[in-house]
Amino acid sequence: MSSRSVMWNMLRNTSLCLVFMFLWFFSVKATVSYDSKAIIINGERRILISGSIHYPRSTPEMWPDLIQKAKDGGLDVIQTYVFWNGHEPSQGKFYFEGRYDLVQFIKLVKEAGLYVHLRIGPYVCAEWNFGGFPVWLKYIPGISFRTDNEPFKAAMETFTKKIVQMMKTEELFESQGGPIILAQIENEYGPMEYELGAPARAYTEYAAKMAVGLGTGVPWIMCKQDDAPDPIINTCNGFYCDWFSPNKAYKPKMWTEAWTGWFTEFGGPVPYRPAEDLAFSVAKFIQTGGSFINYYMYHGGTNFGRTAGGPFIATSYDYDAPIDEYGLLRQPKWGHLRDLHRAIKLCEPALVSGEQTVLSLGNNQEARVFKYKSGGCAAFLANYNSESFAKVAFGDMHYNLPPWSISILPDCKNTVFNTARVGSQKSQMKMVPLTEGFSWKSYNEEPVSYDDNSNTVIGLLEQLNITRDASDYLWYSTDVNIEPDEAFLKNGQYPVLTVLSAGHALHVFINGQLSGTVYGSLENPKLTLNSNVKLIAGINKISLLSIAVGLPNIGPHFETWNAGVLGPVMLSGLNEGRRDLSWQKWSYKVGLEGEVLSLHSLSGSSSVEWVEGSLVAQKQPLTWYKTVFSLPDVDNPLALDMGSMGKGQIWINGHSIGRYWPAYKASGTCGNCSYTGTYHEKKCLRNCGDASQRWYHIPRSWLNPSGNLLVIFEEWGGEPNGISLVSRTVESVCADIFEWQPTLLNYQRQASGVIDRPVRPKAHLKCSPGQKISSIKFASFGTPQGVCGSFVEGSCHAHKSYDAFEKRCIGLEACSVSIAPEVFGGDPCRNILKKLSVEAICS
Ligand code: GAL
Repeated sequence: MSSRSVMWNMLRNTSLCLVFMFLWFFSVKATVSYDSKAIIINGERRILISGSIHYPRSTPEMWPDLIQKAKDGGLDVIQTYVFWNGHEPSQGKFYFEGRYDLVQFIKLVKEAGLYVHLRIGPYVCAEWNFGGFPVWLKYIPGISFRTDNEPFKAAMETFTKKIVQMMKTEELFESQGGPIILAQIENEYGPMEYELGAPARAYTEYAAKMAVGLGTGVPWIMCKQDDAPDPIINTCNGFYCDWFSPNKAYKPKMWTEAWTGWFTEFGGPVPYRPAEDLAFSVAKFIQTGGSFINYYMYHGGTNFGRTAGGPFIATSYDYDAPIDEYGLLRQPKWGHLRDLHRAIKLCEPALVSGEQTVLSLGNNQEARVFKYKSGGCAAFLANYNSESFAKVAFGDMHYNLPPWSISILPDCKNTVFNTARVGSQKSQMKMVPLTEGFSWKSYNEEPVSYDDNSNTVIGLLEQLNITRDASDYLWYSTDVNIEPDEAFLKNGQYPVLTVLSAGHALHVFINGQLSGTVYGSLENPKLTLNSNVKLIAGINKISLLSIAVGLPNIGPHFETWNAGVLGPVMLSGLNEGRRDLSWQKWSYKVGLEGEVLSLHSLSGSSSVEWVEGSLVAQKQPLTWYKTVFSLPDVDNPLALDMGSMGKGQIWINGHSIGRYWPAYKASGTCGNCSYTGTYHEKKCLRNCGDASQRWYHIPRSWLNPSGNLLVIFEEWGGEPNGISLVSRTVESVCADIFEWQPTLLNYQRQASGVIDRPVRPKAHLKCSPGQKISSIKFASFGTPQGVCGSFVEGSCHAHKSYDAFEKRCIGLEACSVSIAPEVFGGDPCRNILKKLSVEAICS
């Protein structure tokens, strides 16, 4: 070989090597970084749309569909917390199966082609029991949570490292070719720092250093923490975050929790947030330079078992999220946000590289314009006035902006989307009973009486110290001796028993009879019982069933909060006046008899004698119910209607569905709620005066075709015959659309230079798969009023409004009708802005 060809070969080999190294670098070592404008993935700045789906709040069988629906809704990223107490239920014993199979969840997100934002915490808040901390953590000697405390730091570090290592082993970080592009350490620690001072600041430094030291190859964030140390990005959580800016000019503006609604507490009404305002808040964030937004929650799901925090957090964690608790699309929220995401993505090139200018368009109106070098331009036109429309001039055009809205113009000329103009359909859901009721058997357990030979001490003990949260229930029992000469035995003026408890709920049994129930609330978990008690001469059995309803998940040192009967416990109205029972002997029993016997399980349920038929207990406390049923032939998600019951827990085939408490009625003011004006969690409420939660989701995968064991424990008395299995389905679908409302189609036509008249927008109506549109409940093209479910005609109404839909939609699963006068028999009122409102029944 000539020296020339040797050289040539060497050169070729070297360049091949370089190509390989280059490819390897970018396929394996693709890194995620950031600058002032955005998160950078593979060298590209990105506007990222993310949504929270917490894996244990649904089942693995639901995950692929939820993730797909998130992708179809325009999401790039799925965000989840990591739930320490689910993964390490007892110290050193780990669990990563079933709903806690974190790796599987992340792999599914990757398969769908989405990224992951992993919020390791390990403190997570999240309305989750104990904020995600295992209860055993509280009992590590010398521990103090979330501060500069060695035992705490050691424990949180061990868990954080374990999770990071697990992700590395599975090659799940983006730097390894995986989907995780971001991680989070701690959670909203800023307010804690403010409260706790210097030790908290030291803890922040420590946590940041520890996390960064783990070498994940992806950026870390700290949310709601203004002093997040470099290189950690501090991010915003809230209903609005446009006002926010990160602590350093070289960090991007990120919104880790855009609250799509709010959580429900037992005793509280159900909050919801209008889609128009949510879209407005997101557009406002993006137009002020925001480049990452995460919906908290995108799918809220269910607090199965005893995972709800609080206290008093409901079992449903629906959150009014774009995907509802059952995994169905919540419309129009899901569709409206999808349209918003498309509009934002059309602006992405301008947003990530353009320079921003702000132009005033009026008193309460402005334009935010992003121009970039290649000549591109995107604009956001905002009307902040919450009362009135605004007509604004921008460029050489005029734009009509509805109140409290932002229009998006990806080419600085044509509107593709306005946050207050919902093009997507609205679905009204219903719960359809599938059974006439169940055939129940019942078993009553007895209140636990004082027993000298059992766990007996002088005085009253804190509840969590005894139960270690192995059960919600703790029995406090004592005896009271009443002399035959007590005056009340003759005059019938029974003494009053007063019990002070640190929470959360309490049933009092006197000589085996329920004689009082009290409970607190999320705002005030403490309670006081004052109840006349029918004592008899001789020994009286006093049994207090104290109940925890989820452990606190937020607040400085929430690990120190007490639960249970701490006293005093007093009897008044005796001959001697008052008798303090607090310092006599009490016996303690953790949990219910039925829990000890595992009555909820197939094997345990046969360990007692159940009664049936006319003997089945009605309105009786401490009652276990069981039945066996077959799975009905429907495809829709399932739930139990527990409206006739009091308070307790539900199990299906041994899986805990969660706590139920329909007897706790929602107090608050529910009224009409406008999308305009600043939103807060008390602004838009439903269910006032009704059960905070009546329906309880049963995941499909927990059911068999037949032989399903349903077990219920009722604490204070309910009507089991009122319980029914229901399916969730669409009742009706509505569209409420203005003529000439901006659409993606028109935008694309205009932007690509098609100059003829814009195409009319269409009303798209779609029932659930398997359903058909059976009738048109309402249709009016003109000036109809009201909202879906209660539309009424206005003064202008096209006489063929109904005909158009009846002809095109009846008998079909889905239909589309163009919103043009000729479709409805001609223009009913010229020169007036018209809209179409329609409601179609699905069956
Ligand atoms: C945030 C917290 C979340 C969740 C939310 C309310 O402050 O970070 O974990 O608790 O509030 O739903």
